[in-house]
Amino acid sequence: MRGVILAGGKGTRLGDLTKVTNKHLLPVGPYPMVYHHIKKLVGAGMTDILLVSGTEHMGDFIELLGSGREHSCRLTYRVQDEAGGIAQALSLAEQFCSGSRMCVLLGDNIFRDPLISFVEKANSRPDWAWIGLKRVPDPGRYGVAELNGDNIVGIEEKPKEPKSDTAVIGIYIYPPDVFSVVRNLKPSARGEYEITDVNNHYIREGRMGHMILDGYWTDAGTLDSLDYANELVRKEPPRF
Ligand code: DAU
Repeated sequence: MRGVILAGGKGTRLGDLTKVTNKHLLPVGPYPMVYHHIKKLVGAGMTDILLVSGTEHMGDFIELLGSGREHSCRLTYRVQDEAGGIAQALSLAEQFCSGSRMCVLLGDNIFRDPLISFVEKANSRPDWAWIGLKRVPDPGRYGVAELNGDNIVGIEEKPKEPKSDTAVIGIYIYPPDVFSVVRNLKPSARGEYEITDVNNHYIREGRMGHMILDGYWTDAGTLDSLDYANELVRKEPPRF
């Protein structure tokens, strides 16, 4: 399985903190944010990792991470010219994955659990897509899963009236056919190629599994959530 870290986007919600740098280079606990994702993937045995980011700060990522040798992995970099959405960023991984399955991490999601149990569960159905879920107090900020028993029946992106308190978090495992799903997407009302549309495709096909995280999870894309991520990581270091 290949690892993919999506670290593009505009980071506009962080104000001056991202005026001259990229959100994923800001500190969370003792490391730059992106270290968390590299350590999670390497900890679960994925040592071939692609990092996607925009034109503005790719040089900084390369300066920080180099070949990946210091982290015991091999890094490949791809530029997303414009922030056209998470699914568009993922489409840049097609050549890199060359027929392998992949574990995709959103670069601003911080979580405690190691990835290995998620990967093992996903290995039980390698032709399915797998997503991470977590119950949250503010589901309207995220993709929200509607569940019927243990089955996900649909996901809505940032709904005004969420049908549950279960957020879809930025940990996804996809089979290689995800790239043909992405190719058939249309941009959403906010002009982005949405990962939620990809996930709903697998739900319609009856090929969607999920894993509920036990430990903490947060995004770190706003001033408050970045603060919160730092607080969580300081109290209980993540398990890699
Ligand atoms: O945090 C989990 C949520 O992430 C999910 O619940 C949502 O379903 C999913 O759409 C996403 O929501 P956001 O709107 O909060 O995503 P955001 O635009 O903040 O992007 C998350 C990460 O994806 C960001 O750290 C960098 C990467 N990204 C994003 C965009 C839009 C890219 O690499 N390229 C992009 O064009």
